[in-house]
Amino acid sequence: MKLERILQNQGFGSRRQCRQLIEMGEVRIQGEVVDHPGAEIATEGLILEIEGETWTYREKTYVALYKPAGYECSHEPKHHRSIYTLLPHQLVERNVQSVGRLDVDTTGLLLFSDDGAFIHNLSSPKKHVPKVYQARLAEPGTDAQVQKLLAGVSLIDEPQPVPALSARLLEDTLLEMSIDLGKYHVVKRMIAAAGNHVAQLHRSAFGGLTLGEGPLANLAEGEFVYLEAADLQRLHSAA
Ligand code: URA
Repeated sequence: MKLERILQNQGFGSRRQCRQLIEMGEVRIQGEVVDHPGAEIATEGLILEIEGETWTYREKTYVALYKPAGYECSHEPKHHRSIYTLLPHQLVERNVQSVGRLDVDTTGLLLFSDDGAFIHNLSSPKKHVPKVYQARLAEPGTDAQVQKLLAGVSLIDEPQPVPALSARLLEDTLLEMSIDLGKYHVVKRMIAAAGNHVAQLHRSAFGGLTLGEGPLANLAEGEFVYLEAADLQRLHSAA
């Protein structure tokens, strides 16, 4: 692929901007400056150095972010910062989108990609990818509330009662539950329907990817990691 095309589809700007970067000698491959925008470069395993920074070529990109509270999952946030300000500008230029959304005040694992099929697949309720949440409750939780969540609660826009896949109290006011549905405020609404109220919500796992484990072992709040093929496989193994 032509070098200028590579830079462009990796998110380094317009064709003109990419040509400029190359012609200014800002692009190196294996330590050598390549200053010809039309140079044909093999993309497999390609690692570039652009303005002194290492960049691994990825045809499609997959990212896991530990979302802090206070960020909106929107490119045009209304009242808070955008979650996209936590990602490299190249990824935003590539138009990565989050897989579903977390509320402004929710913390935890959020995935992004520029692979539309991947996003669609993971968002589809038919895929039944479980997500695990820890909810800090306003009132001490009860066994009856846990049983209600497991049996299924009625939500206004759902024709059938919605059950949690699992639910248990970790502490008096800390409930862990998993669901495979991705709907607006779904966990908060389920817990409200069971007779309690969420004071703070955290998502610890998405499919087989869990914060603090495997590729996400060292991910701190506000940080992201690129997911490789093996990590993506884990997504479809149960959480
Ligand atoms: N359910 C909610 O209520 N909020 C979230 O952020 C995610 C799931």
